[in-house]
Amino acid sequence: MAPETRMTLPSLLERERQLGELADAMAAAEAGDGSLVLIGGEAGIGKSSLVAHLARARPAGRALLGVCDPLGTPQALAPFLELAGQLDPDLPPRLRAAVAPGPPLLEALAASPRLVTLEDVHWADQATLDVLRYLGRRVTRLPILLLATFREDEAPPGCPLSVLLGDLATAPGVHRMDVGPLSLAATRLLAGGDAELLHRRTGGNPFFIREVMASGGTDVPATVRDAVMARASRLSADARSALEAAAVAGSRTPETRLLRLLARAGTPRWALEEPMWSGFLARDAGVVRFRHDLVRSAIDGATAPDRRQRLHAAMLTVLGEEALGPDGDALLAHHAEG
Ligand SMILES: Nc1ncnc2c1ncn2[C@@H]1O[C@H](COP(=O)(O)OP(=O)(O)OP(=O)(O)O)[C@@H](O)[C@H]1O
Ligand SMILES: [Mg+2]
Repeated sequence: MAPETRMTLPSLLERERQLGELADAMAAAEAGDGSLVLIGGEAGIGKSSLVAHLARARPAGRALLGVCDPLGTPQALAPFLELAGQLDPDLPPRLRAAVAPGPPLLEALAASPRLVTLEDVHWADQATLDVLRYLGRRVTRLPILLLATFREDEAPPGCPLSVLLGDLATAPGVHRMDVGPLSLAATRLLAGGDAELLHRRTGGNPFFIREVMASGGTDVPATVRDAVMARASRLSADARSALEAAAVAGSRTPETRLLRLLARAGTPRWALEEPMWSGFLARDAGVVRFRHDLVRSAIDGATAPDRRQRLHAAMLTVLGEEALGPDGDALLAHHAEG
């Protein structure tokens, strides 16, 4: 696409519905009927872009932002202290000293209508989640629209954030919003021209699309590899082994075949569940597939060569035990090449 054509593209594609709903919620908050919207979606899907778009449209001082970071030792209440400092420099020390920081923060937020955004609460410390729970249960009394973004694939069942999501599910004024992938049409707009392969490889994830384009179509751009490996490094050792085996097996593998590969590789079968709920893999009618082919390539490329070779050899043995269909020869040749 010619650069001048690309310049005219809106920065946010296919988010009209979400922006409309959030604008309505902001208008209701300004009338005194506040709400909390929990915005979930996979890494790179566009959560931050969505909330930033909304914040940019607010008058100066009427949008507050607190960000959670993936720290080894998260500082208690960090994102609330950050946004409290934007409200009043005296507020953070008061919150730090308070036995219960919820009430003074609630009082400060009651003063005037605001958009309040907490980014990446999947990395929030427990004190932050407690205050979010406290505010969420009282938000209809406040003139604020409180947004909390999180990576759905980093909120596994039973983790403190998923408990919070469950606790707030029935609270009045609390809503969930999912941010989904871009369509083929939007991918075409971003890439220009034929984008079917790009859409298939990226699964419509705008971060992946933009990075592949910026790298000039490199197989796996370094930025994508780094982002994927940062997520994979948080998996348990067994889950990482299962993910590597799945990457060698292919983009889509019958689950029975993959389980036999895991058995041969000495990886427990339950280790497949963690990459499932972490958003790397999905299960469709007996087939295990990578949600993004690009992620499979990144994992495959980062697997130690000798381990990859052993997995290919194990895969050949597994395939040898099966009556293979018409694609059998191609599969055998692929794994024989290793
Ligand atoms: N709707 C969209 N249309 C076009 N590009 C988009 C859209 N949403 C996001 N992008 C682009 O995709 C990239 C990733 O977006 P963003 O940082 O908002 O994702 P995220 O969901 O916040 O990711 P993370 O979980 O890593 O924080 C950015 O370069 C952004 O410009
Ligand atoms: Mg983000």
